[in-house]
Amino acid sequence: MEEGWKDGKVERGFLVGVEFKHKRTIWQVEDSLAELAQLARTAGIEVVGQTYQRVESITPATFIGKGKVEELVELHADLSFDVIIFDEELSPRQQRELEEAFDNQVKVLDRTALILDIFAQHANTREGALQVELAQYEYRLPRLTRAWTHLARQTGGAVGRGGAGGVGLRGPGETQLEVDRRRIRERIIHLKRELEEVRIHRRLYRQRRRREGIPVVALVGYTNAGKSTLLNAISGADVFVADQLFATLDPTTRRVELPRGQVVLFTDTVGFIQKLPTQLVAAFRATLEEVTEADLLLHVIDITHPNVYGQVMAVHDTLVEIGVTEKPMVNALNKIDQLRDPQALAGLVAEFPDSVPVSALRGYGLDVLLARIEEILQEGMVNVDVVIPYQRGDLVASFHERGQVDHESHTAEGTHIRGRLPRELAAQLEEGER
Ligand code: GTP
Repeated sequence: MEEGWKDGKVERGFLVGVEFKHKRTIWQVEDSLAELAQLARTAGIEVVGQTYQRVESITPATFIGKGKVEELVELHADLSFDVIIFDEELSPRQQRELEEAFDNQVKVLDRTALILDIFAQHANTREGALQVELAQYEYRLPRLTRAWTHLARQTGGAVGRGGAGGVGLRGPGETQLEVDRRRIRERIIHLKRELEEVRIHRRLYRQRRRREGIPVVALVGYTNAGKSTLLNAISGADVFVADQLFATLDPTTRRVELPRGQVVLFTDTVGFIQKLPTQLVAAFRATLEEVTEADLLLHVIDITHPNVYGQVMAVHDTLVEIGVTEKPMVNALNKIDQLRDPQALAGLVAEFPDSVPVSALRGYGLDVLLARIEEILQEGMVNVDVVIPYQRGDLVASFHERGQVDHESHTAEGTHIRGRLPRELAAQLEEGER
């Protein structure tokens, strides 16, 4: 977090958006800016104004056009903001040129930097902290120019902790900038290695879970949709809930018994957002693997949000990016206690496939939601009662891995198993037995 913010001096921020004349998008520039303002406030910045420009294409040097930059410089004289935040990702050059236009009196940030900053603030576990640190360095490396001292101040914890920013020992002929770059690269390699260990650990944990045959339901949803609240409500657990963007960074897994007795694991994931920085998606691979390995996705939607469709699309885009669109999904239409027009509910339910209206906060609709989840999980399974010959140990192993074993005993003919299996695996088992 920014040191100035920590010192209690609230920074004044001015927001800048861009609307592309020929790009069709579900997000109106005003909605995107409203969200950016919320992000800024979450990061502790006071928003003192905003503007946007409709453009044909971006200006390579400054992203927005020359006239708009001049307008901003004039506005600065009146509003004396400390920071300008762009709603789009700026190239290192654009960031630099824009700061120069303000004689380096104003700091220029972009949405990505802001999101990374908030993530850094909210990473509670070691895994979360490692992932964010990696994403921050990946973002900063190409931006590392003469501005490093400024960035070092900006990074606060990460650099102090990671040691990439300190006074490096210079090799022969190396400039300070080269030393800094080298140290960041080394730190990136180190972080990747540590994260690889996390992934291996998680994989082993997941294999164990699979052997136990417990299905996994991953909660996904736009930031602030109510995932943590829902997880708390259905599991009675005490997951951190806050009316802030990205309160949850680390997956939290809870065991829940469904109405007809099936036990499942619910796992919370990082909140999604439009224009989610690609560095973050890559860095959060270990966490997002929980989603790719889940048996069912529970998509939590804040049905009262003015831009609900934009949010749903953004979640969909991220799911496409991590390659999990084929999984069964239930939509929880959340916050119905806040719905201005309760009559609209039936229409909304009809609009979203497989949706159940709920209020995670008030506990409405949770039984119906859980029953629907149980039904879907059971739909893909068939009852199986077989004796598998001892030479087919591989089939016994897959039964454990992908099905649910209710009974297992050893008979003269082989292993007797009774339980449930995904339909396609049951077919394979029949084939294998022949
Ligand atoms: P991220 O951590 O950003 O991904 O958010 P999240 O999806 O986990 O949301 P969280 O559970 O932290 O809830 C966000 C805000 O919405 C909190 O202020 C909750 O109290 C509020 N909220 C959640 N569910 C409901 C609901 O059913 N009704 C109302 N009125 N508010 C809700």
